[in-house]
Amino acid sequence: MFFWFVCYLVVVWLISASDESCPELPSVENGIIVIKEVEGQILGTCLCIKGYHLVGEKTLFCNASVEWNAPVPTCHLGHCPDPVLVNGEPSSLGPVNVSDKITFKCNEDYILKGSNWSQCLDDHTWMPPLPVCKSRDCGPPGSPAHGYFEGRDFNSGSTITYHCEDKYHLVGTRNQQCVDGEWSSALPICELIQEAPKPIPQTAFEKALFAFQENKELCKAIENFVQRLKENDLTMEELKYSLEKKKAELEAKMLSWHCN
Ligand SMILES: *[C@@H]1O[C@H](CO)[C@@H](O)[C@H](O)[C@H]1NC(C)=O
Ligand SMILES: *[C@@H]1O[C@H](CO)[C@@H](O)[C@H](O)[C@H]1NC(C)=O
Ligand SMILES: *[C@@H]1O[C@H](CO)[C@@H](O)[C@H](O)[C@H]1NC(C)=O
Repeated sequence: MFFWFVCYLVVVWLISASDESCPELPSVENGIIVIKEVEGQILGTCLCIKGYHLVGEKTLFCNASVEWNAPVPTCHLGHCPDPVLVNGEPSSLGPVNVSDKITFKCNEDYILKGSNWSQCLDDHTWMPPLPVCKSRDCGPPGSPAHGYFEGRDFNSGSTITYHCEDKYHLVGTRNQQCVDGEWSSALPICELIQEAPKPIPQTAFEKALFAFQENKELCKAIENFVQRLKENDLTMEELKYSLEKKKAELEAKMLSWHCN
């Protein structure tokens, strides 16, 4: 004769003050559900026996709506969940026993991220956590605001070059390479180029000159300029000196235009 050892232990505490009660939970093969009341809420915690692991929600609760918040979990053969490694291969596919150690290998063109081994612990978990196999190729890189990249190949070993729009300059790494699934540097940024501030007029004369340059209408500009000179008692000496300085832009204009 062959006997399955099945534990059908369900402990139920009902809320005595409540008219309504939570529906009784079905028993769990190879596990138990421990039910207790915590702050007016009924909690059910499912535990699997050695050699089995839980699939589903470990803890259920039943509240005023008098329903369990999730379906009853089940206990499956294998002390820890069967190891899964997408694009790779664990040394055992399960079921596993407690304290079993397994190792991992990734397929070609994939790189292992995490530990290349793991052990099934008493509490049904894998430690270190299961690794993942990541492609050696990179995804399309991002572009910084006001910038873009040049390059069409994002495979392992390929390079791209970042550029910024006009009036922006690049801060960071311009040329980047795809190395084991990741771009070699962080995304650069495109910074606005700060234009040199306009010189602030100093003397009354410079103010007059500045006003002249800012004026779009030449005749008005000259009129205004002469007016300002008079107002400030500026001498021709000063004017001469400044005309030397601003010859190209000022004198040329004054001579080549005729005012009515
Ligand atoms: C009771 O649980 C259900 C299911 O999770 C939820 O939708 C509902 O809001 C809960 N009610 C109270 C009173 O907590
Ligand atoms: C787990 O243990 C059982 C008996 O104790 C054994 O038959 C089985 O091969 C073990 N499984 C693994 C994956 O080692
Ligand atoms: C796991 O990685 C270590 C180094 O990190 C290495 O020495 C060992 O050979 C690897 N084991 C397997 C199974 O790949």
